Amino acid sequence: MAVTRRTFLKRMTLALGGLAAVDALGVEPRWLDVTRLDFSHLGLGKTIVHLTDLHYRGNRAWLESILEITRAEKPDLVCFTGDLVDRKNTEHLAEAFDLLKSCGAPLYGVMGNHDPYDPASLKIFRSGGKAAGGAWLTNEAVDFGDFVLHGTSGPYGLKRVEPKPKILLCHYPAVGDKPGTQPYDLILSGHSHGGQCRVPLVGALFLPSFVNRYVAGLYDSPSGKLFVGRGLGTSLLPMRFNCRPELTVVRV
Ligand SMILES: [Fe+2]
Repeated sequence: MAVTRRTFLKRMTLALGGLAAVDALGVEPRWLDVTRLDFSHLGLGKTIVHLTDLHYRGNRAWLESILEITRAEKPDLVCFTGDLVDRKNTEHLAEAFDLLKSCGAPLYGVMGNHDPYDPASLKIFRSGGKAAGGAWLTNEAVDFGDFVLHGTSGPYGLKRVEPKPKILLCHYPAVGDKPGTQPYDLILSGHSHGGQCRVPLVGALFLPSFVNRYVAGLYDSPSGKLFVGRGLGTSLLPMRFNCRPELTVVRV
């Protein structure tokens, strides 16, 4: 039976839509991409693994696979930039930390907008960071001797002048437009999920506030070199399209 041009185009559109749906729901959300950044000019001789926006909902196998890749990088430090859990749900918070403590290096993190701020949860963040050999930083600085690590809870840096390289952990990429007293050598952030679903030629369908122009990747910003990770999990819809989850390895 002959197929008209119109029918053919209709079938093709349906087929492509179906393939896109399979990819967005079943393939991309668990197809981890490893990005490598070279900041070795800082001369610290260290490896940092950057994780962000896990939105953990009890999906143990996914987190265990991320941690296996993290450990294989033999990091000196693991940095997490917010949204450990989803929609302030505390159900899986302790379990997430229980798994994260085997990340293979001291774990330092900051809070994201999805993380719960009630006193009981904050206690879990503090004890979880400590059990993982590091800390959850709420507008604090940690001096490692040859560099300083800052961590803030909002889109801003700390008003401190440091005589050594300084790295900032901040959930919100908009921190790039909030320069402090001194630019950072490196800012690690997340929050945008890279848009999570990016339509070719159109770009991200949705971006949260406090992203500004810093959607994904490395930027020169008024606050210093800013890296925005695409994140490991999903929010709103459990799908990713043209925007794979990302783990980043930074040589500093
Ligand atoms: Fe997030």
